[in-house]
Amino acid sequence: MRILVTGGAGFIGGNFIHYMRAAHPAHRIVCLDKLTYAGNLSTLAGALGQENFRFVRGDIADAACVDALFAEEKFDAVVNFAAESHVDRSIAHPHLFLVTNILGTQTLLDAVNRHGVGRFHQISTDEVYGDLPLGRPDLRFTEQSLLRPSSPYAASKASADLLALAYCRTYGTPVTISRSSNNYGRYQHPEKLIPHMIACARAGRPLPVYGDGQNVRDWLSAEDHCRAVDLILQRGRVGEVYNVGGGCEVANIDVVKRILHELGRPESLISFVEDRKGHDRRYAVDFSKLREELGWQPQVEFARGLSETIRWYLENDRWSEGFAGGGPACGRA
Ligand SMILES: NC(=O)c1ccc[n+]([C@@H]2O[C@H](COP(=O)([O-])OP(=O)(O)OC[C@H]3O[C@@H](n4cnc5c(N)ncnc54)[C@H](O)[C@@H]3O)[C@@H](O)[C@H]2O)c1
Repeated sequence: MRILVTGGAGFIGGNFIHYMRAAHPAHRIVCLDKLTYAGNLSTLAGALGQENFRFVRGDIADAACVDALFAEEKFDAVVNFAAESHVDRSIAHPHLFLVTNILGTQTLLDAVNRHGVGRFHQISTDEVYGDLPLGRPDLRFTEQSLLRPSSPYAASKASADLLALAYCRTYGTPVTISRSSNNYGRYQHPEKLIPHMIACARAGRPLPVYGDGQNVRDWLSAEDHCRAVDLILQRGRVGEVYNVGGGCEVANIDVVKRILHELGRPESLISFVEDRKGHDRRYAVDFSKLREELGWQPQVEFARGLSETIRWYLENDRWSEGFAGGGPACGRA
């Protein structure tokens, strides 16, 4: 197979490229990435220059660039990870989120149609569903839940999902979508919760936590996410949405405490700061469709995955020097 992975210099896309190269060495993987502030070529160090891999710097919203690449490579499948992904940045500057996340997706969908690509897989998020109340463990998002995005980021992702499904219905574009919960693992930008807190704790700096820290996220290891996407590419049904969850709900404050504990730092480093505007309270994902149809379930237990992730950041501190646009801008929990 010849697969285009967009956004592969980012966190999950980078993990996916390494996963696919190990799981399917005969596949040709091409990565298209604009290398925004969030792109880091060091993430792809093990793949660059290797057989069956090509990196192309380019914008998914640039129709001429996308079209030329599709004509040259004749892809069998496209997996679209490329996105502006940070909620805080979307609150400060929504425009770029609409351009990349919606128009970029449309540009790729048009190219898929024009070049007869066999599958377009859209990487989406559980944030399209909005949030759930605390204290209602019986409630979880299913694929039938209403789309009620809270942030400009989530609204742009929901728009892209709707567009992809509309292309499937109107043009017969072979679309699948996965909506995953919060990922953690190696290669994540230091503006995001877990790497940011690890960096602060290591340096003995205050760990800034939004509001009361009780916001709950459903944590999924990036490795488990990659396995889910691979399965959906192989056996997922066209036109379908699949939720991907970790089955592991943890309040932000407890994630922060675990990191402090692992690094032997005191909880007195926790510093509560003004809450994010419109901050979602709780996410929880029902992934029974993926489990029942494709036999997937998460394999990495959170305590072990978090320990391994912390160790990876400690052992790879030169890696973050590879970011195109410098360090973190506005990371808080
Ligand atoms: N991180 C999570 O917890 C999470 C959870 C659910 C879904 N997702 C989704 O997974 C995808 C990947 O998220 P991530 O956390 O790896 O993001 P990331 O910010 O780490 O990486 C995004 C990558 O996309 C590239 N990019 C941005 N704009 C581009 C453009 N116009 N053209 C080409 N490349 C561009 C960046 O250079 C970067 O390499 C996103 O679609 C996101 O919505 C993420």
